[in-house]
Amino acid sequence: MSESIEVDPAVLADSNTDYASSGYDTSTASLSSSINEYVFENGRRYHSYFGVNKNPMPTDEKEQDRLDLHHEIMLNLLGGEIHLAPVESPQRILDVGTGTGIWAIDAADKFPAAEVIGTDLSPIQPRWVPPNCRFEVDDAELEWTFKPESFDFVHARNLAQSISDWKKLMGEIYRCTQPGGIVELAELGGEIFCDDDTMSDDNAFKRIAYQLNQVALPKIGRPAATSALLKARLEDAGFVDVHVTTKKHPFGPWPKDRRLKNVGAMALLMSETGVEAYALAALTRILEMDPTEAAQLCRDGLAAVKNKNTHMYSLFHVAYGRKPE
Ligand SMILES: C[S@@+](CC[C@H](N)C(=O)[O-])C[C@H]1O[C@@H](n2cnc3c(N)ncnc32)[C@H](O)[C@@H]1O
Repeated sequence: MSESIEVDPAVLADSNTDYASSGYDTSTASLSSSINEYVFENGRRYHSYFGVNKNPMPTDEKEQDRLDLHHEIMLNLLGGEIHLAPVESPQRILDVGTGTGIWAIDAADKFPAAEVIGTDLSPIQPRWVPPNCRFEVDDAELEWTFKPESFDFVHARNLAQSISDWKKLMGEIYRCTQPGGIVELAELGGEIFCDDDTMSDDNAFKRIAYQLNQVALPKIGRPAATSALLKARLEDAGFVDVHVTTKKHPFGPWPKDRRLKNVGAMALLMSETGVEAYALAALTRILEMDPTEAAQLCRDGLAAVKNKNTHMYSLFHVAYGRKPE
């Protein structure tokens, strides 16, 4: 016990980043063939199998909890429904970029006769799932291996931060949707609003949302979602009868309305890890911001969300359309 462990100076040579999951940044190339490959950066774990810049959001346990909480928030906003599209008895459902798979699992419970597949870059989905639900690791921006016209309901939610080539993705969705099949896109918009002048122009949450959604992500071809953008994506791909719905998504339990108060309270809790989940990698990687400065902006943003005197919300957009017969 007397000998101390000698430190490998090579580990510190590249001191700008944290450890990769193996800890062996240089010498274990064989591990990099694993789909479970991660990097740790500024205290969060990011999946890196498809390239570390593919998804600028972490996939660690904190993020998985946040995704599940956000699912609950979105359910509340949609009156307890997992989708708004008029889907009755689908046979094959696809959830693109499924995250923890929570939507796909709910869809499998709601439609027990359907086969539900969730795809994601990261294998973070649970193993114990309904028998009609399964998950595949896949990059949705590559050419799909699913058979043409093999799904009658395709769902994709909150992928704005991750997808650069929506035209290609929508093309693959269209190709793999049956004639008459339905596609629903849902996204939390990137802008922060306030209806009663309680949010100042230099509000830190508004500023970080702007830096992220109007500056950083558009630089890599990922504009913030709006209802018009979702509608255009569906129509440009060839879907018809496109419907769009927008819900206010408050941050903090300031609304009087019980349902929105509940949503706001959950959104406040979600922000505890969500501000940095959305912003930290985007600000440091895309805008090359100093990590200390980026972390401070995230803390300031969170402090602004916690301010009871500020009544902020963003918009949750849902759009669906049908593939012509
Ligand atoms: C913000 S999460 C949303 C998860 C889920 N759709 C939800 O609403 O709960 C984005 C997810 O998309 C996945 N993702 C990002 N880019 C992807 C791609 N090119 N192909 C497949 N999944 C992707 C990420 O790994 C992450 O799990």
